Amino acid sequence: MAIKAAPRVRSDAVPLRTFRSTGRPVAIAGLGIHAPENVLTNQDLERMVETSDQWIRERTGIKRRHIAEPGTTTFSLAVEAAREALAASAVRPEELDMILVATSTPDGPFPSVACRVQGELGVPGACAMDLLAACTGFVYALSAAEAYVSSGRADTVLVIGAEVLSRLIDWKDRGTSVIFADGAAAAVLRPAQRGAGFVAWCLGSDGRGYDQITCGNPTLGGYASGESTPRIAMKGPDVFKFATDIFIRQAFAVAEEAGIDIDDIDLFVPHQANSRIIEAAARRVGLPMERVMVNIDEYGNTSTATIGLALHDALRQGRLKSGDRVLIAGFGSGLTWGACLLEWE
Ligand SMILES: CC(C)(COP(=O)(O)OP(=O)(O)OC[C@H]1O[C@@H](n2cnc3c(N)ncnc32)[C@H](O)[C@@H]1OP(=O)(O)O)[C@@H](O)C(=O)NCCC(=O)NCCS
Repeated sequence: MAIKAAPRVRSDAVPLRTFRSTGRPVAIAGLGIHAPENVLTNQDLERMVETSDQWIRERTGIKRRHIAEPGTTTFSLAVEAAREALAASAVRPEELDMILVATSTPDGPFPSVACRVQGELGVPGACAMDLLAACTGFVYALSAAEAYVSSGRADTVLVIGAEVLSRLIDWKDRGTSVIFADGAAAAVLRPAQRGAGFVAWCLGSDGRGYDQITCGNPTLGGYASGESTPRIAMKGPDVFKFATDIFIRQAFAVAEEAGIDIDDIDLFVPHQANSRIIEAAARRVGLPMERVMVNIDEYGNTSTATIGLALHDALRQGRLKSGDRVLIAGFGSGLTWGACLLEWE
């Protein structure tokens, strides 16, 4: 196959920051997921807001999504995903040195979701904290976990992406209510047993785009202003352009940093924000859809949980094999973005 050329970059485009993994190799040892049982279909949404199943499927790729029942919290989804990831990686909770939860919807400002998970798992002592980078949060958390393990500061880190976005949705806003949903995914990171594990990264943000995806009016101070119930708001078409562009640029940047060609990527696992964004980016990067993981039809956009949900499905479907080169990429409010290339263990 022909080697793909990197895209011509607009002169006003933000430069991308890439780096290679150093220290001891780190791999994902196991994954876990959890989604609320309650399913909201496009047909259900047709009865709630002026939309249609056809519009949602054609414009976003979403068919259904899972919405937390009353009493289900970000913490309760996170802990179920964590338990499955620990079992899948044959790690006992007391082996954890650190718990990192990426979330934009903690159950409250404090304590952190990570501390609640730690308490529930019964592992006092491990360092636990939440990290907020919106939908890029899972990639940011993976990079932080990898840095701790590769440097020897930790041996075993549990990374979780968990959200209950449904409680922040304005159900009358058809531009967002059909997209966002609830779910959780977890990964255990440990020193790689064989192979390279994580190889290269691209992480960044551009706060000039802070107003493109918001929850609470940031110019009023958001939560701090005492706004009653903050709601998700999004400049959909602007985000669409940004997302497609950053997926493409990150793919080339990470591949170059890793010293591989795009054709060497076995599976692209993107943040599941919109199937049209994913397809447009894959087409322009030159990756056939057989090498792209898409499961937005089942879960919608669960923010920090999408990448873990997609990795988990890819593994279950036999699309991830030992030695495969996997490109993970995300973007989100902030604006933020993050991508990495890893060799699957
Ligand atoms: C939100 C999104 C699906 C909207 O799709 P779009 O093709 O850009 O649609 P537009 O906003 O341009 O609207 C096109 C038309 O569809 C309408 N429309 C918007 N949402 C609709 C819905 N749910 N059902 C039916 N019609 C809808 C608009 O009102 C507009 O109508 P008009 O032409 O009569 O004015 C799309 O912009 C998107 O996915 N953006 C990126 C969002 C994203 O990735 N967010 C995640 C951040 S992590």
